Amino acid sequence: MSTLAIDGGTPVRTKPWPAWPQVSEAEWDTLVGPRLKQVYLSATEGLPNPMSAELEAAFCAFTGAKFSLFTSHGTDALMTLCAGALDIDGVGPAGELICPEYTFIASASAPLALGCSIVFADIDKRHFCLDPAAVEAAISPRTVAIMNVQLGGQAGDMDALQKIADKHGLALLEDCAQAHGARHNATQVGAVGTGGGFSFQSSKNLTSGEGGMVTTNDEDVYNRASAYRNIGRFPGGKRWEHPRLGQNYRGSEYLAALLLARLTTLDEQTDRRDRNGVYLNELLAQVGGITPPERMPWCGRHAYHIYMLHYHPDEFGGHSRDEFIRAMNAEGVPATLGYNLLLSEQQGIQSVRERYPERVRVEPSPQTQWVFEHTVWLFQSVLLAERADMDDIAEAAGKKGACRTARIETAT
Ligand SMILES: Cc1ncc(COP(=O)(O)O)c(C=O)c1O
Repeated sequence: MSTLAIDGGTPVRTKPWPAWPQVSEAEWDTLVGPRLKQVYLSATEGLPNPMSAELEAAFCAFTGAKFSLFTSHGTDALMTLCAGALDIDGVGPAGELICPEYTFIASASAPLALGCSIVFADIDKRHFCLDPAAVEAAISPRTVAIMNVQLGGQAGDMDALQKIADKHGLALLEDCAQAHGARHNATQVGAVGTGGGFSFQSSKNLTSGEGGMVTTNDEDVYNRASAYRNIGRFPGGKRWEHPRLGQNYRGSEYLAALLLARLTTLDEQTDRRDRNGVYLNELLAQVGGITPPERMPWCGRHAYHIYMLHYHPDEFGGHSRDEFIRAMNAEGVPATLGYNLLLSEQQGIQSVRERYPERVRVEPSPQTQWVFEHTVWLFQSVLLAERADMDDIAEAAGKKGACRTARIETAT
């Protein structure tokens, strides 16, 4: 039995994991540099945003969605999506939107900013997305939308959610910030429900540091969303005419150029992560005490923005999840805890609850609580490594497994 690195043994791995974003002189010379130069030399750095239009067309081709709208951030994309799909502008009160609370705060703060009230419903611990039964139980006469977060890169149970949405006349929105390239059966996320919102923030699978995108197949949603993003102008509208109320959430032409360059490698990277994820699932299934992320029957491709596994302390001699993470880190595997608060516990949401109690409703969420207490994350760049590198992750977890009775020092 080899000694754990945290106890002074030799780490499984000292080789670095792939950095993110991946940058190289070669990519600058052939892809990124020429694109940025094109914007610069065109002397058109803003309206009418030709590079953004090119990116939107490329994103439509990538996702299969009919319409795309480039925005300045993922949060703005979600606001723009809500504005378009729900026909709202953020001035008046809107109806209730059901979303999970094991997610980034923007999944809730964006619809709240548009006047929606939020209902936190439970997730399914197998796939980390909304549990359709919990969604149905949470519906009230005020409900107007379901926002499913395609968390970690796997699509949720979109068929079941669509049935519920149809039955109750609701919009089915997709928060795709973590799921670029993920497929629900053969359909890419962002083209499954009423519309999707993506983020290109620096950690995301497709990034330009900041940026976002709205996708939809519905022309009316597109027109309203487009107006919201572009200070109230409909597509093709005149400069000083503002038939709706909107904000300026147009994306930068330079970032559109960078994204166009990077979009060319997204498919290959997503396939690689998907293959490595499947392989890692097989390896970790053999390590007692760990449940690898379940690949759902409708999963056509998993984007693995986050590889989320369940950790069972009882099968590790009672060692806590924190201890497991520290032991994995010492072995050279960058496992992390993930979200450290549920959204209903975040101060920002609590202050809304205190000031406007009718704006936030929290439904019973036992699976969310369980996931919050048992989940361990690996970020997407780890899955961008070679297949053989996945062996190191399993070896590190297995080493810990083999030493289940050994005492793991708690870092001070
Ligand atoms: C699930 C989710 N939704 C929305 C966002 C918001 O995106 P942004 O940071 O680009 O505003 C993020 C990421 O940051 C996210 O992870």
